[in-house]
Amino acid sequence: MTSVDIPADYPLFAEAKDKVVAITGGATGIGAATVSRLHSLGAYVSFLDVDRKNAEAMIQELSGGNNPVRFYPGSVSVWADQVRFFEGVVAQHGRVDIVLANAGIMSAGEPLLADTLDDEGHLKEPSLAVLDVTLQGVILTSKLAIHTFRKQKSPGSLVITGSAASYVDGAGLPLYNAAKHGVLGLMRSLRDDLAAEPTDIRINLVAPSFVETPFTAHALDIWRQNNLPINQPSDITKALLFLALNREYHGRTIYVAAGIFSEIEGPIEATRATWLGKQNDEWYKQRRDKARLAKEE
Ligand SMILES: NC(=O)c1ccc[n+]([C@@H]2O[C@H](COP(=O)([O-])OP(=O)(O)OC[C@H]3O[C@@H](n4cnc5c(N)ncnc54)[C@H](O)[C@@H]3O)[C@@H](O)[C@H]2O)c1
Repeated sequence: MTSVDIPADYPLFAEAKDKVVAITGGATGIGAATVSRLHSLGAYVSFLDVDRKNAEAMIQELSGGNNPVRFYPGSVSVWADQVRFFEGVVAQHGRVDIVLANAGIMSAGEPLLADTLDDEGHLKEPSLAVLDVTLQGVILTSKLAIHTFRKQKSPGSLVITGSAASYVDGAGLPLYNAAKHGVLGLMRSLRDDLAAEPTDIRINLVAPSFVETPFTAHALDIWRQNNLPINQPSDITKALLFLALNREYHGRTIYVAAGIFSEIEGPIEATRATWLGKQNDEWYKQRRDKARLAKEE
């Protein structure tokens, strides 16, 4: 792991001024903290969310200046809602510079582990709502971000809110774990594809460990009692802004625990021959380089 220092007043954050930002899940928690910070830095921020009540309170609070925050009601798992969101931002501002794919949910009780039976005693199909929002929603946001960046032919930056659960197992949360591993796979796969694009498009991931938000309210006491590391939403905002604005970062992950930042994709790549084996690493590189060459032909 490589430690990264991101102070609250990091000079790079000033570059957020006048940037057009589209973020999903901006009504509470990490998203709300990020919307507020970007607004105060002078960015034009719009967000898509299903939570009208909190979103409307936010846009009232952040209506000042020449950059009032805009809210688009809708769900990340509904393609038409996301299209309306992206088209709305472009119609309003003429472009999108930064996309933050942040919305995600956990289900109360894991449908994969609980055996629920119907009236006739047959096993009920498990709900995959967690995947619809936390994985499929991010895929749809990424698709629209890349399409929009390409079309406007100007640099674009996409940051996905993954999780510590993108890298390590979270007991009792198999579907959430699968979704968060999924968005890491998406980022890893897209980083190579996007590097070959004529338009400068960067993709990165933030992997927060526990953050004190409505999402984790049910578990906060346990984390406190056991003296486990707790992030504040503003910590994750710093990592999101750092990756969104730092042009040297592409295909990277900032892991955040107790407000401490580490880049972890570089070390994982550098030690591939150790954990994958020397021969497997060679074969992987051969296949990857062949795919890169085929793309250039
Ligand atoms: N809180 C944590 O400990 C933690 C840790 C790691 C990762 N994360 C991730 O951070 C992201 C934000 O979570 P948070 O902790 O701020 O939780 P949160 O519940 O406070 O925020 C999630 C936001 O997404 C919105 N949302 C939910 N479903 C949506 C949908 N279908 N379409 C659009 N918006 C929707 C919610 O209304 C809310 O505004 C999520 O992706 C979550 O998985 C959270």
